[in-house]
Amino acid sequence: MCGIVGITTNGNAIEILFPTLQRLEYRGYDSAGVAVLADGNIKIVKKQGKISDLISEVAKSNFPRYAKVVIGHTRWATHGAPSDENAHPHSDCKSKIAVVHNGIIENYLELKRRLIPKHNFRSETDTEVIAHLIEENLELGSGDFESAFLNSVSQLEGAFAIAAITSYASGKIMCARRKAPLVIGMLNSGFVVSSDVPSLIPITDKIVPLEDGEIAIIEPNNFTIRKGEVLVKREAVSIALDVQKAEKGGYKYFMQKEIFEQPKVVEDTISAFLSQWDEIAFPPYKKIIVTACGTSYHAGLLGKLWLETIAKENVEVDYASELRYKDKDFSDSLVVAISQSGETADTLESVRIAKEGGAKLVAVVNILGSTLSREADIVLHTNAGPEIGVAATKTFISQLTVLFLLSLKLGGLRKDSHLVSELRRISEKIDKVLRKADSIESVAKEVAEFRNALYLGRWVSFPVSLEGALKLKEIAYIHAEAYPSGEMKHGPLALVSPEMVAVFVMPKDRVFKKNISNLKEVTARGGKAISVVTEGMDKEVEGSWRVLQTPETLEILTPFVTTPVLQLLAYYAADYLGYNIDQPRNLAKSVTVE
Ligand code: G6P
Repeated sequence: MCGIVGITTNGNAIEILFPTLQRLEYRGYDSAGVAVLADGNIKIVKKQGKISDLISEVAKSNFPRYAKVVIGHTRWATHGAPSDENAHPHSDCKSKIAVVHNGIIENYLELKRRLIPKHNFRSETDTEVIAHLIEENLELGSGDFESAFLNSVSQLEGAFAIAAITSYASGKIMCARRKAPLVIGMLNSGFVVSSDVPSLIPITDKIVPLEDGEIAIIEPNNFTIRKGEVLVKREAVSIALDVQKAEKGGYKYFMQKEIFEQPKVVEDTISAFLSQWDEIAFPPYKKIIVTACGTSYHAGLLGKLWLETIAKENVEVDYASELRYKDKDFSDSLVVAISQSGETADTLESVRIAKEGGAKLVAVVNILGSTLSREADIVLHTNAGPEIGVAATKTFISQLTVLFLLSLKLGGLRKDSHLVSELRRISEKIDKVLRKADSIESVAKEVAEFRNALYLGRWVSFPVSLEGALKLKEIAYIHAEAYPSGEMKHGPLALVSPEMVAVFVMPKDRVFKKNISNLKEVTARGGKAISVVTEGMDKEVEGSWRVLQTPETLEILTPFVTTPVLQLLAYYAADYLGYNIDQPRNLAKSVTVE
């Protein structure tokens, strides 16, 4: 999704600008642009396509090679198609102001209708309205840029993060935040402003996050934060993220590297959780409501099963994009919000509503310092390190680890219980799955020939099936649907044919025999079944077209070994088809619009 960067320094901001923009690429985008102040005017270069296209365009232009203040942006189209014109930054009629923006200005049409008689609009975006609005407020007001900026922001409706530079106040970056992330990072000389904490990893480990409704004015030697008339004092916080973990390290794609990091991620997450086991204390509650989006939602579905089975809790799970509209009674509830980024707009909005309704908030989050982590009463860190591939993999496994341990904790189990010991053995078993990647790769090449796939599983394997189907859709662009195997006969069975591959996730567990019956229903109708089974069970799944085996573990822990099989199946299918795996089309890593 859109990314903002702005740098103000006594050194050369251009040197930091392009590498930082490249580190925003992982979020997903379709065009990019940069702006600098040169000879009293704003110079903008923007381009549809990749940052590499933008860099070639910059090289052809007279964009300065040295500057103290710059802003840049990666755009994920919402208002207007991906194009050079719609890419940010946008400027006013006189090219004295340049604005980059994430989020959506909900009243942009109303503002545009008012401004259009006197202003020359060059794009279809909501963002361009901001530049013209500042221009109008400057003309109407005292000519003071800061007041015009403040006044303009107060007229905007919606959720947004904005950074602007201007020739009226050279050296300054003006920023505004309302329900979309924006942080100030400390540089050796000067400051960087960014909408994405991980993009700052190599250049700073200290950030000052902005809160909703705040305006920041950043200069090379200082910055001020204001909320209305009040000056805000805020200490910098450390971001504990590792540079090396954000590099590919010899793998073809980040996603591949992240899949192979999972054994270590599980170990790290277990150690971190156990080290704070005795300190974690929960307020009294009557029910648990789990909420999340995308892959994190699938982790939530597993969390519910574990909390119910192990801790005998009363648990509801809802998509955050649904929960927020439901007028639920949140009193006496513990809301567990799961998010890799901690910045997903729907997740943030639903937890705010829940908190206003009296809920206590537990955040299962990967980015410390993110909005969700700051708003939570209790933070359970997933410890997966930076995840760059848009399709979530290692963060899913780390979320499962936290949710499993949370179930043990709430179930009153001790940290030396046999379930903890079994969990400790799981990373070795994930490793065993990964060592058999070759056999998964050859099946994946066959899967790549299909246009449709069904993923089927029961009980703990149903959320795993949902996640497997999501991975295949996201990166291999193959239509895939997941169903609880028992639901097959109520509809999806009508789709079964030799053109449909059916992936059965059926480890040795309480529902294995039931799955066998469903498998037969599919194979009897000519369906091609790939059975993912526990080692030694291959004889039981006769008639399967292909069989993939996983190491034996407790039935309740099987998602840890079946998930990597499905991740690799999608990964190798997408690789065989030649797609850009880390940046799938139309998708974004951190979804900051509603
Ligand atoms: C996007 C990402 C997914 C992620 C979802 C929720 O759609 O592409 O990988 O699962 O957002 O993100 P979160 O950061 O809240 O886990």
